[in-house]
Amino acid sequence: MATTDMTYEPLQLVPEEHGVGEQNKSNGTANGNSTKSTSKFDPTFTQAVINATGPKASPRIRKVFASLITHLHDFARENEITVDEWMAGVEMINEAGRMSDDRRNEGQLVCDVLGLESLVDEITYKLATDAADEPTTTAILGPFWRKDAPRREMGETTVTGIENGDHTFMHGTVTDYLTGKPIEGAELDVWHTAPNGLYEQQDPDQVDMNLRGRFTTGKDGKYNFYCLRPTSYPIPYDGPAGKILQLLDRHPMRPAHIHFIVSAPGYKPIVTQIFDRRDKHITDDAVFAVKESLIVDFLPRKGDPKADFELPYNFKMATYEEAKTHSLEGTTETSAPEGSS
Ligand code: BEZ
Ligand code: FE
Repeated sequence: MATTDMTYEPLQLVPEEHGVGEQNKSNGTANGNSTKSTSKFDPTFTQAVINATGPKASPRIRKVFASLITHLHDFARENEITVDEWMAGVEMINEAGRMSDDRRNEGQLVCDVLGLESLVDEITYKLATDAADEPTTTAILGPFWRKDAPRREMGETTVTGIENGDHTFMHGTVTDYLTGKPIEGAELDVWHTAPNGLYEQQDPDQVDMNLRGRFTTGKDGKYNFYCLRPTSYPIPYDGPAGKILQLLDRHPMRPAHIHFIVSAPGYKPIVTQIFDRRDKHITDDAVFAVKESLIVDFLPRKGDPKADFELPYNFKMATYEEAKTHSLEGTTETSAPEGSS
């Protein structure tokens, strides 16, 4: 059974009004980054904006906004952003807001194509540990997670009403990364797309909460369930995120993946995705979420009328205490999405 590969309609590129070289020329520099060229603008302006911050602003807000204002102003000066260009950016943000509701988060999608969700995921969750064995690497949540996916028994399937998928038996153990001990009562919240590349909330032909499920490990920390071998799919590209991809001459495809939130009492939740090594987009994910340790191999499964593929994968968790000890400096304590465990 071949795994279906999703395709997308390539978008028509808009002709460039001026090239990079020209833009840099207007800044009077080779690369547009010279501080000399910025001196023609009021040198006291940025500090004046930062100084307007009132005494009741919290230290974190004060620090983050001073930095944001500095970078935004430098960006505008370095690139000599015009009023028309700034307004086009504002309109894009407004359009993202208008398109967003409880089924679609266009603002998040815009951040995703710019790599921002992947970057803050790394900043938030990376543990600065030298341990030989590391906790399972995290990856972005993405906009399609839903609270309260159905609880399912071990060995059940996430799939309803889909005949043409590559049914897969997934199994493994959830352990403590330091002690190697199995974790009882760990919950795996799983979600993935149908072979048409759509999550159930995007697809009127799927039943509510299809291809989702929450499974809980037993005493031995083991889990198993049936799902589909995933397909690559395009992220929604009919809004501002798609417009950015078009302007940057990029495609919207994500390599085939399955999403997880793994949570257990006393342990830091793991939000992650695992990726099919054989997917043709494994090296050019539109949202930059692939990490080597999250790439997996689907194996052929013999003698099981319910599945043609098998996928072994173990999850390793860190306790909150461990996570705190090894957090990167300055990283604040965070948790999985509200209501995920
Ligand atoms: C996803 O994997 O579901 C996803 C992630 C980022 C943007 C769009 C979709
Ligand atoms: Fe996804």
